[in-house]
Amino acid sequence: MTALNTRRFLQTAGLAVAGLLLAACSKQEPTAAAPAASAPAVVASAPAPAPAKVYAVGTDAAYAPFESQNEKGEIVGFDIDVVTAIAKKAGIEVKFTNTPWEGIFNTLGQGDRDLLVSAITITDERKQTMDFAGPYFDAQQLIAVKKTSKISKFDDLKKLKVGVQTGTTGDEVVSKLQGKTSTNIKRFESTPLALKELEAGGVDAVVADNGVVINYVANNADSKFKTVADKAFAPEQYGIAVKKGNAELLDKLNKGLADIKADGTYDQIYAKYFGAPAAAAPAASAASK
Ligand code: ARG
Repeated sequence: MTALNTRRFLQTAGLAVAGLLLAACSKQEPTAAAPAASAPAVVASAPAPAPAKVYAVGTDAAYAPFESQNEKGEIVGFDIDVVTAIAKKAGIEVKFTNTPWEGIFNTLGQGDRDLLVSAITITDERKQTMDFAGPYFDAQQLIAVKKTSKISKFDDLKKLKVGVQTGTTGDEVVSKLQGKTSTNIKRFESTPLALKELEAGGVDAVVADNGVVINYVANNADSKFKTVADKAFAPEQYGIAVKKGNAELLDKLNKGLADIKADGTYDQIYAKYFGAPAAAAPAASAASK
């Protein structure tokens, strides 16, 4: 390009741009033919170009059927389905990361995780350091023993070796029964490890959440376990934990949870893992009497 040609080119280009600007400013109705005018319409219907925040979800994935890792290493379970469904309703993106139970609550404060779903019981003590969306599930402690065991109630465990997962509500109730410093309390980093120890004979019983104990006993017939329920155990409820004061996320989660309960999604997920929906179960057993 010669100097003259370049100048002409720039002049022409400048005119074209000015023309476009004029067209954009004077146009009343945006039409598909005017690129400048149609641009806003495209932005409105397409996903926002700015990278959407991906909420980091922590879960101790050794707690089937609530959270566990399948053969492919994917994190799956009831809690995962519930939070995925809530996120969809809330219009947020989530990514689950396997996070050891010990220290899991610290990840909120440190900002490593935005929320935690891990069959976490809402307790007054925990409520002082974090906020909970929900509750989304009812639970209770349950005792696992060998089929041959004579243990018939919680009080029988007073002087026996009991396995628990460290820092769980199971740990709390057994600590209350035996005293926190009792050497008969064997604390494990996961509930499956405690149950393995029961199988090996290292402990006389394991106390953990009913859903997990029932699932384990059902899927490990070789272990020859049975369960022992006790009315002494207080009812528990699971919540989704967020950093204390994160009202924005808490609100999104609570709204999403209300939505999946209202439209039947929650019941579908419940039925997938536990059979009949929670509300239908007592009615069904009453009818069969
Ligand atoms: N519900 C009990 C608690 O909150 C046990 C939860 C353990 N969860 C887990 N994914 N390991 O203390």
